[in-house]
Amino acid sequence: MCGISAIASHKPVSDQLLMTLQNLEYRGYDSCGMALFDDEKISVRKNVGSVDEVNAVEKFSTMNGTLGIAHTRWATHGGVTQSNSHPHFSNDNNFVIVHNGIISNYQQLQANLVTKGYKFFSDTDTEVFSNLIQEEYEAAGDVENAFCNAIDKLEGSFAIAMITNYQPDTIFAVKKDSPLVIGINDGVNYVSSDINAFISETRDTIILDDFEYVMVKKDDYKIKKLENRNEITKQVIQVQWDRQTAQMGGFSHYMLKEIFDQPHTVRSALHIPRDQINTIAQKFIDKEQSFCVGVGTTYYVAMVGTYLFSDYAGLYVPSISADEFPTLIPVNDKQHVLYFSQSGETYDTRMAIRAAKNAGAATSAVVNVVGSSISQEVDDCIFQGSGPEICVVSTKAAVSQMIILWQIALEVGVLRKHISRKTADEFQDKFQIFSDTIEQVLNEESGFIRNLASQTSHINNWLFMGKGIYYPIALESALKMKEVTYLHAEGLPAGFLKHGTLAMVDENMYSLFFLPFKSDSDLYRSTLMSIEEVKARNGKVIGFCSEEDEEIRKLLDHQLIIPASNPELTPLIQLIVAQLFSYYSALNLGLNIDKPRNLAKSVTVG
Ligand code: G6P
Repeated sequence: MCGISAIASHKPVSDQLLMTLQNLEYRGYDSCGMALFDDEKISVRKNVGSVDEVNAVEKFSTMNGTLGIAHTRWATHGGVTQSNSHPHFSNDNNFVIVHNGIISNYQQLQANLVTKGYKFFSDTDTEVFSNLIQEEYEAAGDVENAFCNAIDKLEGSFAIAMITNYQPDTIFAVKKDSPLVIGINDGVNYVSSDINAFISETRDTIILDDFEYVMVKKDDYKIKKLENRNEITKQVIQVQWDRQTAQMGGFSHYMLKEIFDQPHTVRSALHIPRDQINTIAQKFIDKEQSFCVGVGTTYYVAMVGTYLFSDYAGLYVPSISADEFPTLIPVNDKQHVLYFSQSGETYDTRMAIRAAKNAGAATSAVVNVVGSSISQEVDDCIFQGSGPEICVVSTKAAVSQMIILWQIALEVGVLRKHISRKTADEFQDKFQIFSDTIEQVLNEESGFIRNLASQTSHINNWLFMGKGIYYPIALESALKMKEVTYLHAEGLPAGFLKHGTLAMVDENMYSLFFLPFKSDSDLYRSTLMSIEEVKARNGKVIGFCSEEDEEIRKLLDHQLIIPASNPELTPLIQLIVAQLFSYYSALNLGLNIDKPRNLAKSVTVG
């Protein structure tokens, strides 16, 4: 949801700024721009389109200067136009800013500035800040005080970076409710929305907290608190992600690379320190009621949790979409909420955390991005260690979260004496076999899945169905399909089909069924009934099955054959195959897989 970047260097920065913009593009990609101080004054270039499209027109590399700011936008206030793109100048062209977030009182501030003669050239909430700082500078006479005084007037969420003709060696940046990190290197310092921007250059990072601001020069930085403007010292952390994991590594898209990362990321999820799993598991025991919460893909992760807690711990843990949580749940201090977020920045999830914390509930989270807002806001956080997930749609992060959930649910089951320690321990072997099976499926079945996708990518309407834990797997798979192919894919419980949706089934409707092996007979049999219902209406059916299962193979128009190992973890194998199926369908349709239209990876607005 918009990416901001700023660099102060001993050498020209336009190429590096461009690289950071490319690295941040998954945060927003409808327009972008750059501002550099080139010895005498600041120049700005910006336009609509992807970073590469804008660069082709604006030729960022030809801009001069050793200090600059840049922005890639996902429109919230004002359409996708050149004038709404960032950076934004003040009226006197002495200040230029980039912003991520929403300034909620911008209309009021703008109206006030207009009465004083300020002019506005965009429909954004952002431009108000560049003029506010001009006004404050006229009163304060120095940039730092003007910057802080202007910030004091803002409401809403913001990460802002600014450069000015008055102090041309310094980047000013501030954070409230939108992420901001600093990268430190020899003679080059970075400010950015996240570490992906500069991870190829340095791993030394400082994570800013809300109401902190920073003044960054090429060889120096000062962090201060907004409330008293006192300087503070913050820990420099070494981020473990490296350049290689952040790159595509020979794959044609990040989505494919990240699907293929999964044997490795599942193993990382199995190495989460035991005490971290136990701390969160204990909360399910100590508190009267727990909830699992996420949004988008992570809501479906949470739903998988509901089935796991029920199965392994005999405990009903409702899963709730983060955007509904504050209005739906009367939270109290006897409750515990476990949140899931890849980015750790999602606004809806953060608001759900706020609601729980305000009511005194215990909070915990599983998050991928180290130092992200959510990781700092909850009482206890597990970092899942999946490495950067660049493709907008989540694949490896979601599966790793499910593996961590599995371990928490097993531990809760042991603590509640619902399962034995031995049963829980046996899962360690099952998880190992599972990561090998993923590898096998990815290597052996890719060609087959690709062929199937090329036969079906003209189909506009899909039903994705499953029962039990296969139901949230069907929902997540349908979301994946929608996100990358823009085709209509509806996820629903297989048993629900006959209660309405069956009316839509005819020879043009394709159904994809997620179901267990025959050995899990009740769930298998009842899903088979739904398959029969579709077949009886001439609907086309694709289904998962094992090589040996002749009964179901006869019913299916297309079979997705998976190895018959590890029945408990079969739903996750099917999810991974469905990820690949969505990928190849989108590839066949020639779509922008890593950056689907209208979506952003880190949705930091409500
Ligand atoms: C956005 C993305 C989704 C993602 C959701 C939750 O809506 O487009 O793909 O699932 O945010 O993101 P999080 O970072 O909290 O997991």
